[in-house]
Amino acid sequence: MIAVPLQIGHRGAAGLAPENTLAALRAAARAGAEMVEFDVRLSADGRPVLFHDDDLARTSNGSGPVDAHTRAALSMLDAGSWFGPAFAGEPIPTLEQALGLCLDLGLAVDIELKPSVGQEAETARIALTIAAALWPADRPPPLVTSFSPEALAMAREIVPSWPRGLLVGAIPPDWRERTQALDCTVLVADQAKLDRSLIGAIGAAGMGLLVYTLNDRERMRMLWREGIAAICTDYPSSS
Ligand code: G3P
Ligand code: CA
Repeated sequence: MIAVPLQIGHRGAAGLAPENTLAALRAAARAGAEMVEFDVRLSADGRPVLFHDDDLARTSNGSGPVDAHTRAALSMLDAGSWFGPAFAGEPIPTLEQALGLCLDLGLAVDIELKPSVGQEAETARIALTIAAALWPADRPPPLVTSFSPEALAMAREIVPSWPRGLLVGAIPPDWRERTQALDCTVLVADQAKLDRSLIGAIGAAGMGLLVYTLNDRERMRMLWREGIAAICTDYPSSS
């Protein structure tokens, strides 16, 4: 019997519904996910919203940088039609809306801080102040992840007891120093660039190793056997 690691729904469940929308969070829960990941960045008026790209064009009917639009303007956009007509009118959620829904659905959360260049610390400060105010103390705290060391350093100040994960592409040779400098207990690596010979050393150092984004069930099973703690997937399931 192979131990089943945690599956984390990527951008909610990006294979099942438009990424980073409330519909994607609901789809993840319906599919049996225990945990979801989503991307957070700031609107022009400093409101944290769920959106992956810097630019609106790929996953909404808007155009131009997300951070050039106010929250009110973003809320008028359709972030669902591009995925399919069943999702027409699906809005860009605020962080508050997303966290509220995850609480209702019983989903654990991985908040990826995806700041615009120059807004790394501010994005973390605003987003995590809001998250801390509404996340109940009796629920496991969200995992906070980011490629940005500045965002993670601010996370350590705002929510020091919440776990932090450093996002990387390939695992860098200095992974130990880089995670220790930010008191990260999780390393989040690109599965396509994964050096599997490092899995044991990372586990032995007491770090959780999470990989993104993996949809191939065979490779999932192989990495589970080799000790990967959690896998970010567009198609989360309960098995
Ligand atoms: O969980 C990590 C993963 O979400 C990072 O990649 O580009 O999908 O945000 P990306
Ligand atoms: Ca992400």
